[in-house]
Amino acid sequence: MKQAEPAASGPLSTTRWLSPENHAAVLAVTARLKDQPGALLPILHGVQQALGHVPEGAIGLIARELNLSRAEVHGVVSFYHFFRTRPGGRQVIHLCRAESCQAMGAVALEAHVKQRLGVDFHETTADGAFTLEPVYCLGNCACSPAMLVDETLHGRVTPASFDAWLKTAREAS
Ligand code: FES
Repeated sequence: MKQAEPAASGPLSTTRWLSPENHAAVLAVTARLKDQPGALLPILHGVQQALGHVPEGAIGLIARELNLSRAEVHGVVSFYHFFRTRPGGRQVIHLCRAESCQAMGAVALEAHVKQRLGVDFHETTADGAFTLEPVYCLGNCACSPAMLVDETLHGRVTPASFDAWLKTAREAS
């Protein structure tokens, strides 16, 4: 049976786009972090870590829990490109665009990666396998150009080594 849609305003509107599981996950993160100073950013990071993104429906809920306006929370989410409001790919590739990596070939590498994946930054491949994101220094400058895939750091990445990694990643998925 189709569930009735919550009203467009009032207390239920904060949960409008959240499944019960995601609603509970957002509340768990906010309950854990909301008493620390500057809680909004840690909460957003926590939600993205828990759900893979910050759903639009979480914004009102977080705002309510922190006694902020939706606009304030939305402003922070949209200011930082790190936060996604839609689910990402099964693997997230962060490609470094900062100075040291640029000096070591990151510009050409970036063009190659985009062409190989068929996406631009902040986009996900059609098969849902990979999301490409920029990052500005991974603290791995000595091994530039650098790339982070989920939790794994790669250094001295070249177009050829990226292709080799991509082939393995596609075979494994
Ligand atoms: S500039 Fe790329 S890792 Fe530091």
